[in-house]
Amino acid sequence: MTQTEDKTTLSTEDTPLVPMEKIVSLCKRRGFVYPNSEIYGGVSGIYDFGPLGVELRNNIRRYWWWSMVQTNDNVVGIEGNIITHPRVWEASGHVENFVDRLVECKNCKRRFRVDQLPKENLEQNKCPVCGGELGEPRVFNLMMETYIGVVEGERMKTYLRGEACQNIYLDYDNVQKSSRMQIPFGICQIGKAFRNEVTPGNFLFRQREFEQWDLQFFVHPSEMQKWFDYWRERRFEWYKGIINHKDRLRLRPHGPDELAHYAKQAFDIEYRSVLGWQEWEGIHWRQDWDLSRHSQFSGQDLSYTDQETKERYIPWIVETSGGVDRTFLNLLLDAYEEEPPSGKDKEGRTVLRLHPWFAPVKVAVLPLQKNKEELVTTARDIHKRLQRLMVSQYDDVANIGRRYRRQDEIGTPFCVTVDFQTLEDQTVTVRERDGMTQIRLQIKELPAYLLERVMWNYS
Ligand code: GAP
Repeated sequence: MTQTEDKTTLSTEDTPLVPMEKIVSLCKRRGFVYPNSEIYGGVSGIYDFGPLGVELRNNIRRYWWWSMVQTNDNVVGIEGNIITHPRVWEASGHVENFVDRLVECKNCKRRFRVDQLPKENLEQNKCPVCGGELGEPRVFNLMMETYIGVVEGERMKTYLRGEACQNIYLDYDNVQKSSRMQIPFGICQIGKAFRNEVTPGNFLFRQREFEQWDLQFFVHPSEMQKWFDYWRERRFEWYKGIINHKDRLRLRPHGPDELAHYAKQAFDIEYRSVLGWQEWEGIHWRQDWDLSRHSQFSGQDLSYTDQETKERYIPWIVETSGGVDRTFLNLLLDAYEEEPPSGKDKEGRTVLRLHPWFAPVKVAVLPLQKNKEELVTTARDIHKRLQRLMVSQYDDVANIGRRYRRQDEIGTPFCVTVDFQTLEDQTVTVRERDGMTQIRLQIKELPAYLLERVMWNYS
């Protein structure tokens, strides 16, 4: 599906799906995301995050960490390294099996992953774009190689991790013993992963360097189904809680041909955007595959002894594995709206309806005029004080309507305007992003008012 075709696609609520170009353009223009090494022509599938992008990423990571690690007594966190011993990737099966099969059209030279080709094109060996003949499939390993050591001949070839979760299996025994965790318990991590994707694209959706979040939850085999169901539902509800368009989220069970040989079942949590229904997070039944393989390849016993029953077994694992980058992209696709001119706003506006907790800037402080020193001094003083509590931005460039629109476009939930009345009675105007409603508050009431609204609604 091309992005041009997608522009006309409607969701079930008849809300137009946002074309990807709009998000790419907003991200570059306002400092969320830039192409990496752009002055050298860029590298396909690699991006950098700008001043607003890094704030949004940090908020996304922080919310996941809070809800997965800090509020679950039976879950702890780690931060493993990107580089590990190369044997890890033999044990995990990545060296042998982490491959994509690719075909190239002999006519238009476009490349396609075999597993993503429509059935009829595969059967007729026909290019889905120009109808030309497809070449023979070629196999590519997705692991990125690197070398440890400096002396030629003594250098050890290893890999940048192809999935972040492997560190959790490697550290499982240390974590279990040092934290005195009893099964069932989980280990979480957020970290970079690298894949030599043969068809990177769709902006942040499929990159070569990206960030994953994983929960690996260790259970007794007899309780696998219970915990699999539990985490599948919890993760689905989590995603539902962070988007506006709930009808664009679904749980899709994997078909028998998609399942790993050890998996009884797997689900994808999918989001519907201009890219169609696409995976956001995977819920995987990993059984004892990972710990058994690492036991076998390392020669270390990774079994667990139950303190009460003295039963010894290799724990089974429920995995929930998602992406910071896909969350970043989906939140923008979900929050972006172009509003036509209305009574309240004569020019129309672009607004990012992000949850205030994710918004990169929580409040903007605006003096009504920048050539009135008292207004500027008061506004700067409020801004400095608010900065101790949250991300605040001071802006005195252009007329007030323009400044409101600039903040709407980056998702800032509140604007505080300092005007002539402020100098008389110490009150300011607080303007809210979504409804564009305005109220008047005492300056001293601002911290409590804003904090209550920009912190996560934990209920
Ligand atoms: N440990 C399991 C695992 O890695 P995966 O489905 O390959 O499973 C998990 O990846 C998540 O990582 C995906 O749901 C997606 O959010 C993210 N992800 C995977 N490949 C990606 C890529 N090339 N670019 C951006 N995010 C990616």
